[in-house]
Amino acid sequence: MNAPKITDSAQLVTAILEEKERLNADRLFILTDEHTDKLCLSILDCPRLEPYCHIEIHSGDQNKTLHSLTAIWDMLIDEGATRNSLMVNIGGGMISDIGGFAAATFKRGMHFINVPTTLLAAVDASIGGKTSINYQGLKNEIGTFSQPDAVIINTDFFASLDRKNRLSGYAEMVKHALISDKELFRQMMAYDLETFDMSQLRVLIEKNISVKHRFVRLDPYDLGSRKALNLGHTIGHALEAYSHRSQDGGLLHGYAVMWGLVAELYLSCKKQHLDKEVLLQMLTFAKENYGAFPFTCKEYEEIYRIMVHDKKNDAGRICCTLLAGIGDVRINQNITKEDTFEALDFIREN
Ligand code: GLY
Repeated sequence: MNAPKITDSAQLVTAILEEKERLNADRLFILTDEHTDKLCLSILDCPRLEPYCHIEIHSGDQNKTLHSLTAIWDMLIDEGATRNSLMVNIGGGMISDIGGFAAATFKRGMHFINVPTTLLAAVDASIGGKTSINYQGLKNEIGTFSQPDAVIINTDFFASLDRKNRLSGYAEMVKHALISDKELFRQMMAYDLETFDMSQLRVLIEKNISVKHRFVRLDPYDLGSRKALNLGHTIGHALEAYSHRSQDGGLLHGYAVMWGLVAELYLSCKKQHLDKEVLLQMLTFAKENYGAFPFTCKEYEEIYRIMVHDKKNDAGRICCTLLAGIGDVRINQNITKEDTFEALDFIREN
């Protein structure tokens, strides 16, 4: 499992061609969705990649389906792809999830590399080899653990992201700092989210991807220590899933994770004696940058019901990752309904 590479737009095409040569790939397939096609392919010197076959699918998590997957497989078959062909997934997490799954299953596995175009995908979904589609209304229900042959991160893509999408990715970066070390957490809190300076962000991205890469390398199949990466996600996923039912468009993933982080840090103080200063710092950071907590206590029961059905649970008990300190992670912690409601009350009342 190679460490992700960081490039800019000028170097990206060269980096892709180097991977093609390293893998001795016979053909190149480029997977995008309609958005990445317009916003990202247009800034690359694509003629240098020729000959290649472009596969485009509809964007959005609602299209991470069996239907889109068969469209990719059909195209690979029609264009004569072999096990030695290379698929380049250029897009957000949806593209690396479905593209990785299509490649991992095509003829029992062809080469693939991920080129994330969002900050969220760069620091999270593109690294770690979790591939999937949604099925029967269940998120990421069918998938594999299949490591990409490479991850190439072009930070120039993030300049076109709107503020909300930058903040969505930044929430996962804060999580990485919390499970890693105090110095990175200090730097993450000190970064100016108003100006969003790209060269400083690039330094933070490098540190973040090395945190994610380290956890994945130690536990690629998510059997133990990798569960540290679930911090904020037990409550965060439930908030996100619930918001998609009840609000226009729903919460962006990172916004749900940010509120999930504050809730789970509250539980970390209660159950693992985490220093309250860390919780208060995160609460202030979340309120200043991510707005008010957007739920009322009437919605807790339904949010909790979603948590009970989370696939991270074990024998019917809700399994959560908590912190005893920054970088001091406690996986497989059981939390009760009362704990959950208390944590939600804490963020709603503050
Ligand atoms: N996004 C969590 C993981 O990759 O394990």
